[in-house]
Amino acid sequence: MIELSQVCKSYGGVMAVDGVDLSVPSGQILGFLGPNGAGKTTTMRMITGYMPPTSGTIMVDGQDMEEHSLEIREKIGYLPEMAPVYQDMNVLDYLEYVATLRKLPTSSRKSRIKEVISRCGLSSVLHKDIGQLSKGFRQRVGLAQAIIHDPAYLFLDEPTAGLDPNQIAEIRTLIKELGREKTVILSTHILSEVQATCDRIVIINAGKVVADNTPEKLQAGLEGRTVLMVTMKSGPSDATAKVKSLSSVEDVRAIPGHSGEVRLRIDSAPGQDIREAIFNLAVRENWVLLEMIPETQSLEEVFHKLTAA
Ligand SMILES: Nc1ncnc2c1ncn2[C@@H]1O[C@H](COP(=O)(O)OP(=O)(O)O)[C@@H](O)[C@H]1O
Ligand SMILES: [Mg+2]
Repeated sequence: MIELSQVCKSYGGVMAVDGVDLSVPSGQILGFLGPNGAGKTTTMRMITGYMPPTSGTIMVDGQDMEEHSLEIREKIGYLPEMAPVYQDMNVLDYLEYVATLRKLPTSSRKSRIKEVISRCGLSSVLHKDIGQLSKGFRQRVGLAQAIIHDPAYLFLDEPTAGLDPNQIAEIRTLIKELGREKTVILSTHILSEVQATCDRIVIINAGKVVADNTPEKLQAGLEGRTVLMVTMKSGPSDATAKVKSLSSVEDVRAIPGHSGEVRLRIDSAPGQDIREAIFNLAVRENWVLLEMIPETQSLEEVFHKLTAA
């Protein structure tokens, strides 16, 4: 379990992270989403123990980072945004070097390296220099070094940035697999990334958490608002006003449709399911309902609304 409480980081007066409260139970794949400059990398560096917060506390499994950073770092794997690449080292030598740095016991070192190689699909490039590898393979090497000590927590900073679609799909699959046994926190500025991979999405903007929910709930709209598209046969002219007068309805707009049909875009009040009220109204008024389709806001729209200044 990771717990951040009022975590702030300022770089010479600029608040990069501004009072973040966040609690991540074990076993989640959490997507940390935000535009460039939102504070994702800064937050990750603090949780992984590479940089202290200006103020606030970070607890991992009940231990305070300030006092137990070495112990905590043993439980954490980290793929930084700009993975330090030892261009001239071959993959196997590099993983052996990382295993030594991580103080893996010599008795199990070889077998663990083998395991990670197979896990990350690196057997075909073991003797190649890292500098010669494609970006996709370099990311796999980055993942391999992040998991070599079998950490409970895995932090991935923009793990698919700069990859082509095939490589993205491969890395996503690998992340999902790792997520079955580890708590994974991955940052990205790309929505489809978290939608495809994560159980939970935390959106950060200008150093502040602006949303925290499941992809489904975020998509269903802000504060549970739903949008319903309703089509009726041969339009009653007062339909818009009558729908608007329902207490569970917040807004109604008439949408141009086929002639002889009335199409309404109806916004519910927060947390209201308006389908039944619409149905009952149609019955009372003798309207012929042709269609009633709930519309979900795309995560793109939600993201835009939440992060628009
Ligand atoms: N080392 C640094 N020195 C000064 N400002 C920084 C430094 N690192 C990041 N920043 C600033 O802090 C803010 C957050 O940056 P960052 O955490 O890298 O965001 P993200 O990873 O979401 O793109 C940005 O305004 C950035 O310019
Ligand atoms: Mg970043």
